[in-house]
Amino acid sequence: MKRETVIVIDFGGQYNQLVARRVRECNVYCEIYSYKTDIEKIKAMNPKGIILTGGPNSCYEPDSPTYTKELFELGIPVLGLCYGAQLMMHILGGKVEAAPVREYGKTEVLVDKKDSKIFADVSEKTICWMSHFDYISKVAPGFEISAHTADCPVAAAENAKKSLYAIQYHPEVLHTVEGTKMLSNFVLGVCGCAGDWKMDAFVENTVKEIREKVGDGRVLLALSGGVDSSVAAGLLSRAIGKQLTCVFVDHGLLRKDEGDEVESVFGPEGQFDLNFIRVNAQQRYYDKLAGVTEPEAKRKIIGEEFIRIFEEEAKKIGAVDFLAQGTIYPDVVESGLGGESAVIKSHHNVGGLPDYVDFKEIIEPLRDLFKDEVRKAGLELGIPEKLVFRQPFPGPGLGIRIIGEVTAEKVQIVQDADAIYREEIANAGLDQEINQYFAALTNMRSVGVMGDERTYDYAVALRAVKTIDFMTAESAELPYEVLNKVMNRIINEVKGVNRVFYDLTSKPPGTIEFE
Ligand code: XMP
Repeated sequence: MKRETVIVIDFGGQYNQLVARRVRECNVYCEIYSYKTDIEKIKAMNPKGIILTGGPNSCYEPDSPTYTKELFELGIPVLGLCYGAQLMMHILGGKVEAAPVREYGKTEVLVDKKDSKIFADVSEKTICWMSHFDYISKVAPGFEISAHTADCPVAAAENAKKSLYAIQYHPEVLHTVEGTKMLSNFVLGVCGCAGDWKMDAFVENTVKEIREKVGDGRVLLALSGGVDSSVAAGLLSRAIGKQLTCVFVDHGLLRKDEGDEVESVFGPEGQFDLNFIRVNAQQRYYDKLAGVTEPEAKRKIIGEEFIRIFEEEAKKIGAVDFLAQGTIYPDVVESGLGGESAVIKSHHNVGGLPDYVDFKEIIEPLRDLFKDEVRKAGLELGIPEKLVFRQPFPGPGLGIRIIGEVTAEKVQIVQDADAIYREEIANAGLDQEINQYFAALTNMRSVGVMGDERTYDYAVALRAVKTIDFMTAESAELPYEVLNKVMNRIINEVKGVNRVFYDLTSKPPGTIEFE
């Protein structure tokens, strides 16, 4: 069955992944491609609709990103957003110029064409998010203006006969109050998508695809206990049961009780049918990390040791047919394989395939999904909520939350402090609001007094940040009572700690982690 797809053509704007997510929220499958993608490739995908994103350029400059005019002649509905809208006008014979007034922020848009398909069930006056320095001063032939603002004569325009729509603002941003409605009007109303891309269907279809691909072959997966690899394990288990072997390396740098939690879900007592191998490598890691204080050196040791252990386990298992990975769609886009606004992270999953495992092919069952979709698939598969809604946890684990040398004693301190902190954040009902929060162990020891005794103990630092993309972040404004309670409990319950700090630093200049 060919699934209906809407394609987002990426011109380098900052909200491009959001556009695709909003389309997916309409239960329509959506993929992002760079504006450099050949039109033949787009045609071959036979999309139900095409969306052109925003971007930082001026479309009338000679070197700016552009696209062939043919795109608008395919008979496929096209929606241009911001730069995409200007480019559509520019290519089709309208005029785009530097605006006398730059519009930025929440702006009242007045709908002129009340029977426009894009504005079905949208208020006549509606707040939208504007961010542009150029404007459409003249629409292309065949287009009519469908909305305006006080400063912008063309907030939206359309050639309904040809199903071409241009929108100057950003409907994908939540500040555009009725933006989701407008996008769903395009995707369902104009493109005629059925909106049947749902997670239960995804799970069912993917299970079928895995079975066909794997046959009676064997699959190996490195399970970290994070959301992505756990959901991949759940899917593969449902598809092929014991043909799947998961190797879970407990490096002793996990959060409190986490190793046992992963084992209880995926191990022999758990609900999934698979071979589960837990490698208790705690001491091995502590030995390797002894005396090492430099953050990058620690990361390197932790990474290399993982490879070595995985290699050893893979050797014991012998040749497998497939190596599975929990790559998700943002990993694919960010590694430059999809869209234009590529931000290459050093710790994404895509690319470097391990050459130390004897396998024939790679299998990535979550490659098409956004994080929230991975979570939905996880729930669908019956993976416990606690695991599915885990906050991000770095690969090197507590190794980069213990400043200076890592020792078993320090790991225990930070595990206990962190568990208390997380418990109190959850008790205060703040766990959904904060994107990442944890306790770290500073390398500072100071004098204190407890009872009648002098202490000389460590200081714990608490971190809590709000962020959208983890590239920038602000420290969360936690209520004083919560902080105070956490401080009291940590001092009383965690041996070896006599001070607690709250980190107020934003990113930049700080990072989210401490090392
Ligand atoms: P920073 O500290 O760079 O963190 O502001 C941004 C996000 O990335 C995570 N992070 C890592 N994840 N390996 C990982 O898998 C790493 O070495 C690493 N360093 C940071 C961090 O938890 C945050 O979500």
